Amino acid sequence: GGGGGSGGGGGGGGLLARSWGASNGGGGLLRDGSGDSFDGDVGFPEERRRRNSSSSFVLSRAAAAPPLPGQTDADAALELEYRSSFLRCVIGARAGVSWDDVAGLEDAKRALQRSIELPDRNSELFSGVRAPPRGILLFGASGVGKTMLAKAVATACGNKVLFFNVSAAMFAAGMPGEGERRVKALFALARKMQPSIICVDEVESLLARRTDATSEDEVRMMTQFLVEWEGLTTRADERVTVMGITNRPQALDPSVVGRMSVRIYVPLPPADARHKLITNLFRDEVTKLTVEDAVRIVQLTEGFSGADLVAMCRRAAYGPAHELIARGGPAHADRLRPIELRDFERAVAETPRSHDARSLRALEAWNREHGTVGTA
Ligand SMILES: Nc1ncnc2c1ncn2[C@@H]1O[C@H](COP(=O)(O)OP(=O)(O)OP(=O)(O)O)[C@@H](O)[C@H]1O
Ligand SMILES: [Mg+2]
Repeated sequence: GGGGGSGGGGGGGGLLARSWGASNGGGGLLRDGSGDSFDGDVGFPEERRRRNSSSSFVLSRAAAAPPLPGQTDADAALELEYRSSFLRCVIGARAGVSWDDVAGLEDAKRALQRSIELPDRNSELFSGVRAPPRGILLFGASGVGKTMLAKAVATACGNKVLFFNVSAAMFAAGMPGEGERRVKALFALARKMQPSIICVDEVESLLARRTDATSEDEVRMMTQFLVEWEGLTTRADERVTVMGITNRPQALDPSVVGRMSVRIYVPLPPADARHKLITNLFRDEVTKLTVEDAVRIVQLTEGFSGADLVAMCRRAAYGPAHELIARGGPAHADRLRPIELRDFERAVAETPRSHDARSLRALEAWNREHGTVGTA
């Protein structure tokens, strides 16, 4: 935590808390450094490592797969190997992202909660026509918090709903037909252990238009995925949902889009979400910002993605430290001056926006055409 008294005397974190609004629970991003580990972190490797030691409850439920008729020992061994590789990508409460950690995106959160949490908690109410969706798509520009939202879903699932975090790399061809068999193993496991969610981050690299496939094997793997998925939609009592995440929904095969009945657009953060994100980041830092300063920073960051904002805030926070070092003398944390508006102004000037209007328009157009929540 930031702690130490400020050189400027008095003030300190209290001012920030007042000017940026009081903080709420949940993990701070700068404080625990977890912000870094989300970036492009498809497999959540750290999570997987930690989980390995504690997934025995999962293993005991899944290991008891009876051999299929005509299956050789070698096949059975492979099947077991595939299953355990997917078990290792089950994450749950340890994903450690609460709904509150994700700034803004209220529409997306509500839709996800409705699609996943409600049916799980009230399984009698949400059956038949009201059964949970078989496919959910989260789409939006890079760095807006899609992967983070998925982690919040995983956290909310806890160990009641198994959340498989899979990536295209896990199906990449080894031996001919291997991808196909891995797909079968995954769905068999997810069915056996339902309720479950199969989350495919960067889904466009697994289920791109089949005309773009680079090999026969890849096409067969994708076809198998669609067949298994179709099986879910035709069996009314299955409680398995496939959740895809992408920043290029245009690249998806139309049959994939068709199977995702809930398609949620994750937009760039509007003013209130930017405010909340920055507030969360500086919860424990010493700053000298007034309410007007906060409004100014929010204005200056129009068009920033969440990731842009985090990068900009880090830059702003470095300002006082760089100054201290440049002045020479002892570089102790308690000699740091509070972060000021000018640090943010400089940081904003040094942080380019990741997204241009044209690519955003393309996403918004796709959303108008295919999206199911929100419009802009
Ligand atoms: N709404 C948000 N609240 C808090 N932090 C956010 C938010 N959006 C983005 N961030 C920050 O930006 C980082 C990147 O977000 P994330 O990985 O979820 O983006 P993404 O939408 O999955 O992007 P990509 O399409 O490139 O995978 C996060 O680790 C987090 O630090
Ligand atoms: Mg992502």
